Amino acid sequence: MQFFTFEDTMRVNGKKYHSLWLKPGQPELVEIIDQRFLPFRFVTRELHTLGDACSAIREMQVRGAPLIGVTAAFGIYLALTAFRKGEIVPYLHACADELIATRPTAVNLNYAVHKVLQELEGCTIPEEARRKALAAAQGLLEAELKSCRRIGEYGLTVIESISRMKKQKTVNILTHCNAGWLACIDYGTATAPIYAAHEKGIDLHVWVDETRPRNQGARLTAWELGQEGIPHTVIVDNAGGHLMQHGMVDLVIVGSDRTTRTGDVANKIGTYLKALAAFDNHIPFYVALPTSSIDRELTDGISQIPIEERTDEEVRYIEGWNGNDLARLSIVPEESNVMNYGFDVTPARLVTGLITESGICAADEKSIRKIFGKKL
Ligand code: MRU
Repeated sequence: MQFFTFEDTMRVNGKKYHSLWLKPGQPELVEIIDQRFLPFRFVTRELHTLGDACSAIREMQVRGAPLIGVTAAFGIYLALTAFRKGEIVPYLHACADELIATRPTAVNLNYAVHKVLQELEGCTIPEEARRKALAAAQGLLEAELKSCRRIGEYGLTVIESISRMKKQKTVNILTHCNAGWLACIDYGTATAPIYAAHEKGIDLHVWVDETRPRNQGARLTAWELGQEGIPHTVIVDNAGGHLMQHGMVDLVIVGSDRTTRTGDVANKIGTYLKALAAFDNHIPFYVALPTSSIDRELTDGISQIPIEERTDEEVRYIEGWNGNDLARLSIVPEESNVMNYGFDVTPARLVTGLITESGICAADEKSIRKIFGKKL
């Protein structure tokens, strides 16, 4: 099945990019887009060491569940480039723990690191381990890329059917945070169906939640969609419910940082409120995600998924561009307490369907097992 080509897409000023790549001619170096400067400046950065990979994830130079997983996989490879002598197994486990501790909610980190470690089992020669780690990290990168492409193909059918129902009038899609190509390797999860539908000539428009406090919607999703020429409007996070009540949203698509095998979805803080509003207004609410975002161990998202608590500074200050540089302004009285949960959980009962690389299914254990089969 291939409905679209995705040719000439995911370009930055006309040049094709992935969100992470090996430096041409210097495969011992990994390069990333430092997303902290977007959309104001396009900055790329080299990762040389395990420490570089850990801080890139922790400081959100890279972010988005699939991308942090792939970055962690390459982190193991970078760690092995520095390994000279000693016991390789305890060294690898210490590196894995350091990577997994960088961000707790996205299960992709755990998934990717363990996939690489599996490939290294029984390997005691550093050079061989390094080669195998590189192959495993590249394999994961390719797999994420292909998954997003398939998610685009399956998700396109949802947008097409709404477009048909609306007699080809504009399909209005609401999304939260950035589940675009920047958060993955290419195409994105939530955005892949949107890019596919746009390429097919379907008339669509995207409502982009700004996504306080880091504003991934306003800064990253809006930028991505703009680069692809997709009509979009940035809204404040609390506007979605109002738009839904007034018939201005036909479909919600979001990504996921961790989905239980029973279909509960952890995603950027605020996703749950969008799901509630969509449910109340009978608007389809889809979650787009690859296998790497499914936690097969968990059955209850609210009690079991660890929710990252982030620094209060992200709430106390708002960051923007002053014409020359990133600048921040204080927006909260100094004496006020501040709390900053990064994610929330949307219970499966509010999810219309999961759009995955293996097909679209209901958010329940039986349907998830049926489409993923042995992959889970
Ligand atoms: O804190 P972030 O920016 O890493 O959070 C990202 C999200 O919540 C995305 O929506 C999520 O990772 C979906 S994956 C494409």
